[in-house]
Amino acid sequence: MKSTLKILSLFFVLIMISCGGGEEQKKETSKAKLKSTTTTKKVETKKAETKPSKTIDLTSKGVGPIKSLTLSAEIDQTMVAHGKDVFKKMCTACHKATKKFIGPAPKNVLKRRTPEWVMNMILNPDEMVQKDPLAKALLIEFNGSPMANQNLSEDDARAVLEYFRTLK
Ligand code: HEC
Repeated sequence: MKSTLKILSLFFVLIMISCGGGEEQKKETSKAKLKSTTTTKKVETKKAETKPSKTIDLTSKGVGPIKSLTLSAEIDQTMVAHGKDVFKKMCTACHKATKKFIGPAPKNVLKRRTPEWVMNMILNPDEMVQKDPLAKALLIEFNGSPMANQNLSEDDARAVLEYFRTLK
């Protein structure tokens, strides 16, 4: 009688173990399924999103030396002339003023970005494409070709920014 009980309880324990294992496995597979559906969803929404180059973000200041910059209402034409010159020498290898080239067209850039963000992108592109979410996304959109640090002085960058304001 005792040994029958022993055998029975052993049997019972074995059943419990095997059932438990089954549960675990089921959970694992359903987890995996859940994962795969969420990743496909992500890809789908990405496709529908606007391109980073068209995304408007007038709050982010980016990462870099420029923390705050207020543009005067009036455009400074002396600065524009200098900025245009700097742009021609240092930027036209990759940028066309009003058309997409190796990099995006700076036309209307201040309708999409804060002046601080633009300045930081010019002065600190390496850190920007590493840390700023929008710059990161831009780098991907532009096939991983990075915006080059042209080592502009802050004044030169500011002049280029003034020139960008005139592009229509
Ligand atoms: C070697 C090519 C190259 C040079 C030279 C270059 N850029 Fe860029 N630039 C890019 C690329 C590519 C991007 C897109 C972001 C990325 O891929 O890192 C970009 C992005 C930018 C952006 C962000 C534009 C937006 O719509 O958000 C600004 C502003 C900019 N560049 C300004 C300049 C200025 C000013 C100069 C000259 C001092 C310059 N770039 C020189 C390649 C270049």
